[in-house]
Amino acid sequence: MTIELYNDGNHKCFSYEDIVAGHGVQSNQFLIVHDGHAALIDPGGDLTYSNLYEHLNHEITVKDLDYVIASHQDPDIVSSLSHWIAGTGCKIVVPAIWERFIPHLCRSAKVREMQKRLIAIPDKGMALHVGDSPLVAIPAHYLHSEGNFQFFDPVSNILFSGDLGASFVELETLSDPVTDFAAHVPHMEDFHRRFMGSNKILRLWVNMVRELDPDWIVPQHGRSFRGKPVIGEFLSWLEGLECGIDLMTQDDYRLPKRPGEWL
Ligand SMILES: [Fe+2]
Ligand SMILES: [Fe+2]
Repeated sequence: MTIELYNDGNHKCFSYEDIVAGHGVQSNQFLIVHDGHAALIDPGGDLTYSNLYEHLNHEITVKDLDYVIASHQDPDIVSSLSHWIAGTGCKIVVPAIWERFIPHLCRSAKVREMQKRLIAIPDKGMALHVGDSPLVAIPAHYLHSEGNFQFFDPVSNILFSGDLGASFVELETLSDPVTDFAAHVPHMEDFHRRFMGSNKILRLWVNMVRELDPDWIVPQHGRSFRGKPVIGEFLSWLEGLECGIDLMTQDDYRLPKRPGEWL
């Protein structure tokens, strides 16, 4: 199903929430269209490609797609890379630290072509342009990937937050922004405690995002956070959350059995 997040006639944002086939983790893919130009954020892998292509066809001429953007290197983010290179003339946008790893997602016949079309986002972020509309890559390193970006669209004031804010919920509720934040926490707490780098990183990110002041935070999995009150609750929750290396102890680094007992 195509969800229209924003539409002023010339600028549109769409979300695709129920496309993943089989047993893959539920994930959201995003399309931004401006004045006939288009960027696709975190298109996923083989489990999404054909179905997503069909959906995009209703909004754009897919082969003319300007950008396929990867927030980080995970399989649910961009493992369909070869298909997009073969099927469109898009530029491929990836975090600079993954530039030399991403070719492993690509069929060998397509690597050279991919390298010609690659845009590497420097650690401090950058502005891309969808037609004459900026799409800003915001640093979100260690949340969760070591080289990770989120994407802010200043026209809709939406921050596409990647894995940060991800939740795992009933399919029927995916399109509804979170209203009862406390009730939503159990759907995302375990994931954030394991996948996010540390509380220090969360606090640095929260400071930056308070300055950005988005109207809507839309993650790559699960439900979104719309409006200042719920976004405020989300940021405060993150600010106080211990996660990642904060929680690791020597107990997490013990040999499964003593040497000599492994057979
Ligand atoms: Fe990820
Ligand atoms: Fe993800």
